Amino acid sequence: MLKKKEKYVVAVVGATGAVGHEMVAVLEERNFPVEKLRLFASERSEGKIMNFHDKSVTVEILTENVFKGIDIALFSAGAERSLHYAPFAAKAGCVVVDNSSAWRMDPEVPLVVPEVNPHDLKWHKGIIANPNCSTIQMVVVLKPIHDAAKIKRVVVTTFQSVSGTGKKAMDELLNQTSDLLNFKEISPLVYPHQIAFNCLPQIDKFMDDGYTKEEIKMVNETKKIMGDNSIKVTATTVRVPVFRGHSEALNIETENKLSANDVRDLLSKAPGVIVYDVPEKNVYPLPTLCVGKDEVYAGRIREDNTIENGINMWIAADNLRKGAALNAVQIAEKLIEMA
Ligand code: A2P
Repeated sequence: MLKKKEKYVVAVVGATGAVGHEMVAVLEERNFPVEKLRLFASERSEGKIMNFHDKSVTVEILTENVFKGIDIALFSAGAERSLHYAPFAAKAGCVVVDNSSAWRMDPEVPLVVPEVNPHDLKWHKGIIANPNCSTIQMVVVLKPIHDAAKIKRVVVTTFQSVSGTGKKAMDELLNQTSDLLNFKEISPLVYPHQIAFNCLPQIDKFMDDGYTKEEIKMVNETKKIMGDNSIKVTATTVRVPVFRGHSEALNIETENKLSANDVRDLLSKAPGVIVYDVPEKNVYPLPTLCVGKDEVYAGRIREDNTIENGINMWIAADNLRKGAALNAVQIAEKLIEMA
C-alpha cells in the first residue's frame, strides 16, 4: 500500500521507449508530486540523459535490487521484464503500475481505467495492471452506455498506429515510406509484411481459434475492467500506417433502447470523453486530432437499424497517452488520492 506523502520517489522502467518517454512527459505536464525521478532501461541505454522539469536525469540499468526506496514504479519495458522484475519491486514496498500484458488477467491484480473502475485499486497487492491500449479507449465510452442501457454485445474493428508496437516500428514505417517513395527495395523487420501504404489484419500472435492475442485481450480485459462477464465482445484488430493515435469502429448492442442523441448526451457528460460529431461539417474523430490529447474522441454516432437496440460509432484516442502513459499516471494519481 502507498503511504501518504507530500512527494514520492517515482521510477519509470523502460524510460527510453516510446511509452516510457511519454510517461516522463506526462508526469512533468501534470505536475505529479515527484521528490525524485529514477529512470531505468537496458544496459544499451546506461548513462543516457533525459530531461525532467529542466533537470537532467541519468538512465540506470534495471536490476532486481534497484527498487528499495522507490514509492511508485511505472513499468513499460515489455511483458518479460514486467513478469520478472515487478515482484522484486512489490517486495521492496514499491507500487508497480505495469503497462505490459504480463499481469492483466491475474486474478490477484487489478486492471484499472480510472474513469471506469477506480474502486478496484483498493485490493491491489503491489502490482496494478494498465490495460491494453485499444481496450482502454473502448471501455471509457462503453462504461456510460453500459450503466444507462446494459451492453449485450460489442463488435469492434481497430485501426491501430505503429507506435503501439514501440519505437522500432515507428522507425520502420518512416524508413519504408521514404524508401518506397524513392523506389528502393524494402525488407520488413518488425512486422511480417510491409506496413507503409498497407493494412495488416494481425496484431500480436495468432491463437488456435484464428483470433490474434490482441483480439483476445480486448474480449477478456473489457469484461474484467467493466466487472461484467456477460458483455460479449468480438474484435478484429488491424495495424495501419499511422504513427500515433488508434481509431476504432464500434457496433454496440444494448438491452434497452438508446437513440443516437441519448448516446451523444451520455458521452458528453462522461469523464474523459469528447463528443466530436458534426458530420455535415466533416467533424469526426481522427488520429491526427487526438495526438497529445488526454480524452477519447467519439463521433459518427448513429443508430444501427439492423438490430433492435444498436449504436454505431467511431472513436479515436492517443494510444501513447490515454492508451498507455496517461492512464498509468492517472492510476498513480488515484493511488495518492486514496493513500
Ligand atoms: P533500451 O532503450 O535500453 O532498449 P519500446 O517498446 O519503445 O521498444 O521500448 C522498450 C523499453 O524497454 C526501452 O526503454 C528499453 O530500453 C526497455 N528494455 C528493453 N529490454 C530491457 C531490459 N532487458 N532491461 C531493462 N529495460 C529494457
